[in-house]
Amino acid sequence: MAEKNNTISVEEIEKQNKYMELIRKENDLFEAENGVRRRAFILTLGCQQNEADSEKLSGMASKMGYDIVYEPDEASLIIVNTCAIREHAEQRALSLVGQYKHIKARNPDLKIVMCGCMVVQEHRIQDIKMKYPYVDILFGTSSLHRFPSLLYEKMEKGKRIFYRDEKEYAVAEGLPIRRENRFKAWVSVMYGCNNFCSYCIVPYVRGRERSRKMEEVVKEIRELVNSGYKDITLLGQNVNSYGKDLGLSYDFADLLFEIDKIDGDYLIHFMTSHPKDASKKLIDVMSVSKHIARHFHLPMQAGSDRVLKVMNRRYDFEKYMGIVEYIREKMPECVITSDIIVGFPSESDDEFEMTLDALKKVRFDMIYSFIYSPRKGTPAAEMEEQISTDEKKRRMDKLLKVQNEISLEHNKEMVGKTVRVLCDGLSKNNDSVYSGRTEGGKIVFFDGELCDTGRFLNIKIERADTFALYGNKID
Ligand code: SAH
Ligand code: SF4
Ligand code: F3S
Repeated sequence: MAEKNNTISVEEIEKQNKYMELIRKENDLFEAENGVRRRAFILTLGCQQNEADSEKLSGMASKMGYDIVYEPDEASLIIVNTCAIREHAEQRALSLVGQYKHIKARNPDLKIVMCGCMVVQEHRIQDIKMKYPYVDILFGTSSLHRFPSLLYEKMEKGKRIFYRDEKEYAVAEGLPIRRENRFKAWVSVMYGCNNFCSYCIVPYVRGRERSRKMEEVVKEIRELVNSGYKDITLLGQNVNSYGKDLGLSYDFADLLFEIDKIDGDYLIHFMTSHPKDASKKLIDVMSVSKHIARHFHLPMQAGSDRVLKVMNRRYDFEKYMGIVEYIREKMPECVITSDIIVGFPSESDDEFEMTLDALKKVRFDMIYSFIYSPRKGTPAAEMEEQISTDEKKRRMDKLLKVQNEISLEHNKEMVGKTVRVLCDGLSKNNDSVYSGRTEGGKIVFFDGELCDTGRFLNIKIERADTFALYGNKID
């Protein structure tokens, strides 16, 4: 079958490179006149996909001559990469942008940019147009690569720019990336989502599924491994449909198999895997692999088959449990984590109890749990039987109680064992302790040294609580 071309043309990327050069010249001139370089601050909300996109924005900003800074106050360029997954994420973006107004009042040179998932939605675009006049540039998720030309246009003409995303979403290869970490990296393998779970905004703001070519992904990972990266996470909203849109014969399991052949001391994680098409082949490939972490993130969302159906998840609990059992049969040590939503419209008390039962049956190592948040334009937001905030909170508390006990039991089973941990460096909250992650992503605290950062260590676990393990280094 002929390979589909879903990639933005080389000419378009070269055009953007030219704009990056032009802005760089302007920024060099600014430095010559003012004695300081222009600075850029990027704020990222939302998921790892947005983190990965921000590293491209940061790569482009660096190439344009901006110094990347971590405080907005002194910046000449502020980029807010937004998320729309829940109301809270949107409110945070708006309130932060509101604060940047004061920075702009002090520094008229400042350009404020909003991009990402929230600002693909028409009602938000209108909101920002009317109520946030200090936002200079806005563009959505399919126009990331256009950032240099849009910024140049703003610098030259001065007018506000509200760029409408193309309907045809495509893959941009060859953009510069400025990675935040020197041993952990994100690599997107596909973008977008075709699933339309009834509660979720992602398909509306990230477009249809499009996969990167296998050779591009493998090349990027080989380069990362060769330059010392130890932990690489493959990203996609549903990695199990990788390759389908290209109309080729390879799938995600084949991609993992190819990646695993790369020599080196590194781990590959991936997220997210949709239970409706998690295949035995994928689990088989993982179980014989050298580098694929024994960690499966498999969002379940709910335990009731009726709720799963209304959510449009296209699996039932029996199918879900079948995948979990197969993972455990092939890889008994595999850490399994999940996402759960409480208070989905029409979820009855009994149906919520079925989610609790499911947690007890599956026994996840850890879950990410969310209170259902209505998203404008999604079918679930239109459903009449919305659950009250109080009830949603009550269910959340109950859910956490059940899961925390299970997480604690799992963690306690680790006491006395020696595990391989990738050291992240000094712990953020306690600067005399080091922290790292096990292959399954569990956080471990231990006494370390600066030179441990970015290395795999053997740690003997001495103590465990619900959210963390504590241990000592073993030579
Ligand atoms: N593509 C991934 C999920 C991405 S969003 C998947 O299908 O598994 C991450 C999580 O956010 C989802 O798994 C879901 O649990 C949660 N989520 C999505 N929309 C939500 C909403 N409207 N309210 C509350 N939680 C939501
Ligand atoms: Fe959202 Fe469902 Fe797509 Fe995940 S699979 S991004 S939950 S629509
Ligand atoms: Fe991610 Fe939020 Fe967009 S979760 S895909 S940044 S809506």
